[in-house]
Amino acid sequence: MTQASDSVALLDRDMAAKNLSGYWSLGMEGLPPEPMTAVEPCLWKWSDVHESLVRAGEVISLENSERRVVRLVNPGLDRRHGFATHTLQISFQYVKHGENARAHRHTPTALRFVIEGNGAYTTVNGQQCVMEPGDLILTPKLTWHDHSNDSKQPMIWLDGLDFPLITALHQVMQERYPDRRQPIERTSEEVMSHLGSAIRHGVPLEDFFHYKWRDTEPALRALTQNRSRRNPFDGYLLEYRNPLDGGPTMKTIGCAVQLLPPGERTETHRHTSTVIYHAFRGSGATQIADRCFEWEQGDSFVVPLWYRHCHLNRSASDEAILFSMSDAPVLKALDLYREEDASH
Ligand SMILES: [Fe+2]
Ligand SMILES: [Fe+2]
Repeated sequence: MTQASDSVALLDRDMAAKNLSGYWSLGMEGLPPEPMTAVEPCLWKWSDVHESLVRAGEVISLENSERRVVRLVNPGLDRRHGFATHTLQISFQYVKHGENARAHRHTPTALRFVIEGNGAYTTVNGQQCVMEPGDLILTPKLTWHDHSNDSKQPMIWLDGLDFPLITALHQVMQERYPDRRQPIERTSEEVMSHLGSAIRHGVPLEDFFHYKWRDTEPALRALTQNRSRRNPFDGYLLEYRNPLDGGPTMKTIGCAVQLLPPGERTETHRHTSTVIYHAFRGSGATQIADRCFEWEQGDSFVVPLWYRHCHLNRSASDEAILFSMSDAPVLKALDLYREEDASH
């Protein structure tokens, strides 16, 4: 090859054969001035999710399938993975009366937010967590967990996982427990009853996995009694903090509930975290960039990173409550979290 007959095309071809690549072939004039994402704003209707769960209840057996789970898929991402965002996954799980979803553990961290049913339980590292609507149950990475429904009714809950993030880090693995169910060593009620005195006296604490709605709801309502606690971008927002260190719910997922009083309209902002919302009570709308997503109880939606957004409760009489999970703890740990008031 002489210098005179060389070209970019020839250079690219020869480099490719040697597993090399020229930066010029990206065709970029430099990096984008703002963070960009392929994740699209998207809303999933509860009626669609619920119909799929009920049909899955007829055709999917927990004897043959590890879990009966319907995943929410973002149209901007590769559909084969079944991810709602680039960092977090949301799905819904259905366990019928008498069924057990077998015990296993994995590197992805998970959480459950209970939607329907009463009295089934998740066991996490031997700790029995009896599930009631609005409860949040954590299964941090590599904790053993299984779900059993000995109640008379079917149970449905929301599953949140950091599966896409752990996949991107090539850290996904799973192990099965030797038996279908773990032995129960204690209940989450016992752990909660020791929590206050353990923190005060500095004694070692059992793992804390279970936030009861009967504790969350009064704390959320107490916020609304003081107008100064209103967040201009989120209404009255209560984060689920790790009681041991006051930090985020888990290392990779931050959870919150927020109450939008009747007539609430929040200011517009944007941030580098991506948030998945689930409408737990009431109805409303969320403006995301130039699109308005109307939601009602049971619907779920995604606000991708750096999209301007605000929330509305148009009802004159009914409050709305949103449960949310976000990847903000990851961005904050990497010093990549930014937030901007975009109301003007
Ligand atoms: Fe699991
Ligand atoms: Fe926000």
